[in-house]
Amino acid sequence: MDAVTLKHEVTVMAKWDYTKDIDYDSIDTTKVKENRFLFYLLTIASFVEITSETYAKNLSEYYSDNLEAVSWINESWQKEELQHGKALRAYILYVWPEFLWQKTYERFLELYLPLCNTDSFQATRALEMLARMIVETGTSTMYRAFESYAKSCDEPVLAALSHYIYKDEVNHYSYFDHYFKHYNQKENLGRTVILKVIAKRLKEASSEDIEMGYQSIYELEHKGRFEFSSYELFKKELKDLAKKHYPYNMAIKMMVQPLNLNKAVEMTMIPVIRSAMKVLGI
Ligand SMILES: [Fe+2]
Ligand SMILES: [Fe+2]
Repeated sequence: MDAVTLKHEVTVMAKWDYTKDIDYDSIDTTKVKENRFLFYLLTIASFVEITSETYAKNLSEYYSDNLEAVSWINESWQKEELQHGKALRAYILYVWPEFLWQKTYERFLELYLPLCNTDSFQATRALEMLARMIVETGTSTMYRAFESYAKSCDEPVLAALSHYIYKDEVNHYSYFDHYFKHYNQKENLGRTVILKVIAKRLKEASSEDIEMGYQSIYELEHKGRFEFSSYELFKKELKDLAKKHYPYNMAIKMMVQPLNLNKAVEMTMIPVIRSAMKVLGI
């Protein structure tokens, strides 16, 4: 592959300081303390985010020909994801100080790390960038939903935290989009291939990281026992949250962007994809 010279401006580190811009001391814990669903949700998110070093290592290996991308991945992307994990952990430990976060995280790593390797990467560099765009679409929209949910719980600190993370995730999406376009100049992927990757990633959206995060917390609370039926109930609660708070249109717009459709076609596709997502239970 040719030496890659990209001129994308690299943003160094997050625009926000999660230790200064979030006023943890003003959290009204009575608004969220009894909310077990939220506790699980935030803890799983913190586990997945804080493991960013492993994801960055795999990506750096895969894109080792591209110094600019590798530098952005390690200097900005990884550090921001890590900040998200730490900020969520700080929130969790403020509200639920009795929770053994570190011990539970270690169990999560035991379950999840064996799956974190480049084996599951896409076959080409453009396709992998596309897959990353879908992941960032997932995180952007998820934190947008968290923000809306936190507002409905009348918890402004969590709403603010979710908002900052959401903004970072959208920024990540734009970088992966930029690198996707770069590689796709050569690979010239057709819309059918792109659609297939999008559909495949969507089907996988239920994903092992969430399940393993859930399992590690559940085990801690139930003396090492895990019941899959409880995870099914959690997923149902997640769907209920999505019904009220998930920004479906935003998700679809971000997902169809790589198809480079004109606005009219994009608008006609939105309701079609939206009903497909409902059928898939997304
Ligand atoms: Fe993140
Ligand atoms: Fe991200």
